[in-house]
Amino acid sequence: MRAWRIAVLAGDGIGPEVVAEALRLLKAPAFAHLRFEFEHAPIGGAALDAYGDPLPPQSLDTARSADAVLFGAVGEPRFDSAPRAKRPEQGLLRLRKELALFANLRPATVFPGLEHASTLKPHVVEGLDILIVRELTGDIYFGQPRGIRELAGGEREGFDTMRYTESEIRRIARVAFEAARRRSSRVCSVDKANVLETTQLWREIVSEVGRGYPDVQLSHMYVDNAAMQLVRQPRQFDVMLTGNMFGDILSDEAAMLTGSIGMLPSASLDEAGKGLYEPIHGSAPDIAGKGIANPLAAILSAAMMLRHSLRCGSEAARIERAVADVLRSGARTADLEGGTGAAVGTRAMADLVIAALDGRA
Ligand code: IPM
Ligand code: MG
Repeated sequence: MRAWRIAVLAGDGIGPEVVAEALRLLKAPAFAHLRFEFEHAPIGGAALDAYGDPLPPQSLDTARSADAVLFGAVGEPRFDSAPRAKRPEQGLLRLRKELALFANLRPATVFPGLEHASTLKPHVVEGLDILIVRELTGDIYFGQPRGIRELAGGEREGFDTMRYTESEIRRIARVAFEAARRRSSRVCSVDKANVLETTQLWREIVSEVGRGYPDVQLSHMYVDNAAMQLVRQPRQFDVMLTGNMFGDILSDEAAMLTGSIGMLPSASLDEAGKGLYEPIHGSAPDIAGKGIANPLAAILSAAMMLRHSLRCGSEAARIERAVADVLRSGARTADLEGGTGAAVGTRAMADLVIAALDGRA
């Protein structure tokens, strides 16, 4: 069997720590039948330091030629005042655009036992299972023109452009409807059609695509209401379909329903299903290097990689069951345990998951 080539872009902050644990898991005896070649490449702040570029050409090549990309996190406060092109985040944004990773899947599920880790009441989040389908290569994130310009009179003005073409809306809508068919067959499309032209077109095209999926129930919701409904009654949602910016915001909100942003994996896919897999938490510079970061989002991202890019669905499910077992046994990283002082560290948590794999063949 040919080895899978995995580009490993660990990045900044806790990125390298959590990615290292995901790699250890993929190399565990339980997966000895899978062959991987891991190719490490710099991105974000680490790449800026070494090459003055948050996405050096050789890192882009490594990602492009790989079967899948395992990504950590980017962002470091010391670059906060740097010009936009010289910020770590640009490495990730350019990578998404260059690889045409337009479909971002962000599942938010509450593992049994973690209901109490959420800041919401346990009965509100129990059994929660939402999939946010976020468009990732368009919208105000990439729209032109944008900039900061000087007006007559000397005052400066910042401006960005929100834009979506019909075809961009159509292809992400299809991803959401197809995903809904494999779940509870409901799509809630999020927009601000009462105010923004872009999202008026969004609503029109999503409705049109929806007519091709008569078995899927489609609803529309304004983004402000969606933000409220997510904390009021989150279980009403199955698939949430969003543009790039609304999805960025709502997925952080949804993460907290699950107990911790340290739990959420994601997949960013192109038309052919090639993907980049990353925990949705950021680089968390405040806890970097302390060995206390939660590795589960990175581990669950590796599971998504096995399922979506490598067609190893049973191995992916085995990882997810092992994570559920470990959480059921009571093990918690610091982000999940609420300050009782009994937290396990990054490496210890990964060790528990690796051990649990064996009971989950
Ligand atoms: C995310 C992050 C990124 C985004 C940043 C790091 C550019 O917040 O993946 O949600 O805004 O998309
Ligand atoms: Mg975000």
